[in-house]
Amino acid sequence: MCAVSASAGDVLSPILTKSDSLTVGPGGELVIDGCSARSLVEEYGSPLFVISERTLRVNLRRLITGLAARWPRPTRVLYAIKSNNNLAVRAIANSEGAGGDCFGLGELHATFAGGADPSTIVLNGSSKSDAELARAVELGLTVNVDAEDEVPRLAAMAVSAGRRVRVNLRLKVASTRVDHFAPDLPHGGGSIRDAVLEAQWGLSVPLAARLAREIAASPSLDLTGYHVHVGRVSRDPAFHEAWGRAIAETVAELHTLTGLAPRVLDVGGGYPRERDVESGRLELNPHPVEAYLDGLTAGLRQGFESHGLELPELWIEPGRYVAGNAGVLLGTVGSVKRDLGKTWVHVDFSVNNLLRIDLMGVTYHLLAAGKLREAPVERVDVVGPLCAGSPLGADRPMPRLARGDLVAALDAGMYAEIFTARYNGVPLPATVLVNDGQAEVIKERESVEDVFSHHRIPERLRPPVGSAAEPGYSAPASSGR
Ligand SMILES: Cc1ncc(COP(=O)(O)O)c(C=O)c1O
Repeated sequence: MCAVSASAGDVLSPILTKSDSLTVGPGGELVIDGCSARSLVEEYGSPLFVISERTLRVNLRRLITGLAARWPRPTRVLYAIKSNNNLAVRAIANSEGAGGDCFGLGELHATFAGGADPSTIVLNGSSKSDAELARAVELGLTVNVDAEDEVPRLAAMAVSAGRRVRVNLRLKVASTRVDHFAPDLPHGGGSIRDAVLEAQWGLSVPLAARLAREIAASPSLDLTGYHVHVGRVSRDPAFHEAWGRAIAETVAELHTLTGLAPRVLDVGGGYPRERDVESGRLELNPHPVEAYLDGLTAGLRQGFESHGLELPELWIEPGRYVAGNAGVLLGTVGSVKRDLGKTWVHVDFSVNNLLRIDLMGVTYHLLAAGKLREAPVERVDVVGPLCAGSPLGADRPMPRLARGDLVAALDAGMYAEIFTARYNGVPLPATVLVNDGQAEVIKERESVEDVFSHHRIPERLRPPVGSAAEPGYSAPASSGR
C-alpha cells in the first residue's frame, strides 16, 4: 500500500548508518523500510511512531553473530525490552532467537505475550516484589539476584513450587581500571567507578561472596554465575576493553573467596549507536558495535585467562542497539512563527514523546521528511505544542517549512515510546510496523477519552444534569471505593 521505489538523498546520506532502512523517495520524501512517510501519515495519522522490521532484524542478527564470532563458548543476546516494549517488537526478537532481560511484571507480560522461551529470559531488578519472583519461578526464568533478602525469599518459593531456580548475582564492578571520567554521565559527567558505587544496583564483592555461599547451601537454587551492567557510559572502545578486564578481575576475586567459577556471565547492555543521540552530539560515532564487542570480549578473555579461569557462557543485554534506529517519529508542522529574527517551527509531537530531551539532554536528528533534497535556508527551533518542554531541536538548518509539512525524528525506537508522557492531556500516538513496503498497526492511537479513562469524578462533584459538561462525553463516576 505504501511502497515506493527510492534512492539515497542528500540530507539523509551523510547521517545514514549500516542497518538503517531509510531512503529518499522520488519526491524527496523520507521512505522507511519501503513506506513513504507521507503515505504513512495520511493513512495512520500524525504524530506516528514507525518501526522498521528489517532494521530490528538486522540489528539483532548483527549482535547475535558478532558476539558468537568473538567468544569461544556459547553466547546469548538478551533483548532489553525496556528500550521498546511493543509486543510486536518482542515477537520479532523471539523469531530471531533472542532471549530477554525483564524488569517487573509489565516487562514479563510483554515478553511472554509473543511466546518467549523461558530458558532464555532473565529477571532483573534491585527490589523485586514477591509477585515478580513468584512469576519468575513459575515461568522457569533465570533470576539476577540483586538484594540480600531475595535469596531466602526465592529459595522458599522454589521449594514450594518444587523447582530449582537458576540465579546469577549482580555485581558492582568498582575496579580502579574503570575509574576514569565519563563525560556522558548525568550532570556533566563523572567517574564511572563512583557511578557504580553510588547506584543502587549490584552487590559488593564481600556481600556477593556471602550470598554465593548462602545460595550454594540452598538445594532449590542453582548459582550459575554473575550479572553486571553499567549502561551507555562511554563511546570509547578502550573503555569497553577495560570494563571487560575489570569484570573478569571482580569474578576472579570472588573465585578466590568462594571457589565459584561462573558457568554464565551476563554483562548487560550499553552499546552506543552510530547516531549516538545520548552523546548530545549530532556527528556520527565512528565506532561500529563490533568495536565494542571486540573490546569487551578481549578484556574479558585477558582477565579470565590471566587468572586461570575457564571462560563462561557470555550473555549481553542490548536495548538501544537493537531498537534505536529501527524507530522514527513522524510529525506534522503546525504554526510557524517568525519573530525577533528567529523562527519557531511547531510540530505535533513533543517532549511528551521524546522525554529524554528534557531528562538527559538527548539530541535527535530532525529531518524535513518531505523535503530531503531541499537545501536549508534558515536555522529554526523545532518545538512541540505543549506549554513546557525544551525545544525538540534548537538552531537546526531547515528548508522553508510551512503548516502540513512533515518532520521526522530519527532513532525514536529506543527509550522514546516507553518514556512517553501525556502532559497537557495529549493522547499517545499510534505505532506502525513497516516491512518492505507493508505497514501494520502494532499500537492503536489513544483518544482523549483513553487519556482520562482511569479518572473518576466522585458523585458529589459531578455536574448537575443539564449543565455545560463536554457534549457527548460522560465522565466516569467514582465507584466510591
Ligand atoms: C540491567 C540492564 N540491562 C540492559 C539494559 C539495556 O541497556 P542499553 O539499552 O544501553 O543497551 C539496561 C538499561 O538500562 C539495564 O538496566
